[in-house]
Amino acid sequence: MREGGIPERLMSIIYEDDLSTVLHTEDDIARRVAELGKEISADYEGKSIVLVGVLNGAVVFLADLMRHITVPVAMDLVAISSYGSYSSTSGVVRIMKDLDESMESKHVLIVEDIVDTGLTLNYLVDYMRSRNPASVKVVAMLSKPSRHKVKVSVDYLGFTVPDEFVVGYGLDYAQRYRNLPCIAVLKPEIYAGPDTPPSL
Ligand code: PRP
Repeated sequence: MREGGIPERLMSIIYEDDLSTVLHTEDDIARRVAELGKEISADYEGKSIVLVGVLNGAVVFLADLMRHITVPVAMDLVAISSYGSYSSTSGVVRIMKDLDESMESKHVLIVEDIVDTGLTLNYLVDYMRSRNPASVKVVAMLSKPSRHKVKVSVDYLGFTVPDEFVVGYGLDYAQRYRNLPCIAVLKPEIYAGPDTPPSL
């Protein structure tokens, strides 16, 4: 475990034994999110943005990122179904919760926690474009390039990650670990073992 990965205050409640490596500490993440916010603010100078967060994983990133954006922002949330509770992707993309507001003539910035196969993002970009916005861009905290099945364009990216099961900072396994403040690799025996836990 990398030094500084899990803050002391969380040691007793977080499942440190379930994790093999901390890829990005809380401090790494805070620094990178601040940089992304600054870059986005500069690029949208004089405009306002609608941040469209993808539930559930993106809420942690969205909440942090929006506080580093200095142009006016509105927010909306969508929920997409692409995975079951277990680790394989079905490739099925459908909207479970739609946009609340019109995107007509707005600058839309889709906020994702991770781009894995890219199927969700691909679908969402097309979906947003069909709503006649002024522009559509994407910010993702993480991307796993080795897993992409389709060509995806991410305008602002936090970090690339290897093809491992990553959790924390909004990312879950069976709804757990989203509250980890760092981004860590889950030990394979946790998600591949015979005692695989059910969803919470
Ligand atoms: C994850 C993630 C992305 C999507 C990426 O969501 O938040 O939305 O999968 O996968 P893809 O690139 O292979 O399409 P998930 O369906 O696990 O839901 P969650 O955000 O509620 O955890």
